[in-house]
Amino acid sequence: MADWSASLYLEFEDERTRPAMDLLAQIPLAEPKRVVDIGCGPGNSTELLATRWPQAEISGFDTSPDMIGKARARLPGLSFGLADAATWQPEKPVDVIFANAVFQWLPEHPAIFRRLMGFLAPGGVLAVQMPDNISEPSHRLMRETAAQAPFTERLKGAARAPLPPVSFYYDLLSPLSARLDIWHTIYNHPLANAAAIVEWVKATGLKPFLDPLGDEERSLFLERYTAAIAAAYPPMQDGKVLLRFPRLFIVARRAG
Ligand SMILES: C[S@@+](CC[C@H](N)C(=O)[O-])C[C@H]1O[C@@H](n2cnc3c(N)ncnc32)[C@H](O)[C@@H]1O
Repeated sequence: MADWSASLYLEFEDERTRPAMDLLAQIPLAEPKRVVDIGCGPGNSTELLATRWPQAEISGFDTSPDMIGKARARLPGLSFGLADAATWQPEKPVDVIFANAVFQWLPEHPAIFRRLMGFLAPGGVLAVQMPDNISEPSHRLMRETAAQAPFTERLKGAARAPLPPVSFYYDLLSPLSARLDIWHTIYNHPLANAAAIVEWVKATGLKPFLDPLGDEERSLFLERYTAAIAAAYPPMQDGKVLLRFPRLFIVARRAG
């Protein structure tokens, strides 16, 4: 995938940061020493960690140079670097490994989760949130538009795989956890109009569909996709549209 755009991502910062807050609220640790934010993006999730645990040694990493540049500018006192979640390993055991809205992009994430559990200090926590929205109209309509000519061939394989069921994550992590908490939250974000939904997904889920296209094809794709979104998300009485957004949360605590 082409590099992420931090400024496009931050257009909906409040809404995107809310699940990070909800995830953080369920981590039962008062004074962790070392905290790592995987896929820290522009530092919005890292800032929450630093506010909750000002005494902790907090770092973040991401594969995107644009995101890391923004995170460093936002939080100059913290340590940020370029690294890949699939291969990263810490120098010392970590008390909190936090990953908000990252692992949905890595189909091999179950194996990575098991590996990350092994990097935790005794009593440490792996905390993960992933969008579970692949069946929502916002994402179904990406696939339906991609299946039309002239995109069919070029966009084969652009769609993200659905997440496995909760039972899969439970069986994966319960043998490694003293406490395991898995839940879903469905957010309903009021947005200005259908174009705002398109703008929201442009920074994330729509990227694999737009990145392979040239300018003309991209405009055509966006025109058809936006029309389909407008039909699927009719305006509320106040003229806004509601973006329904299910997300999956996992908090796994290693035995102390
Ligand atoms: C949706 S953003 C999440 C940003 C932030 N954590 C938040 O809570 O809003 C996803 C981030 O994951 C990063 N990312 C994607 N694949 C990654 C990988 N394999 N390793 C590390 N970061 C990755 C992207 O560059 C992007 O900044």
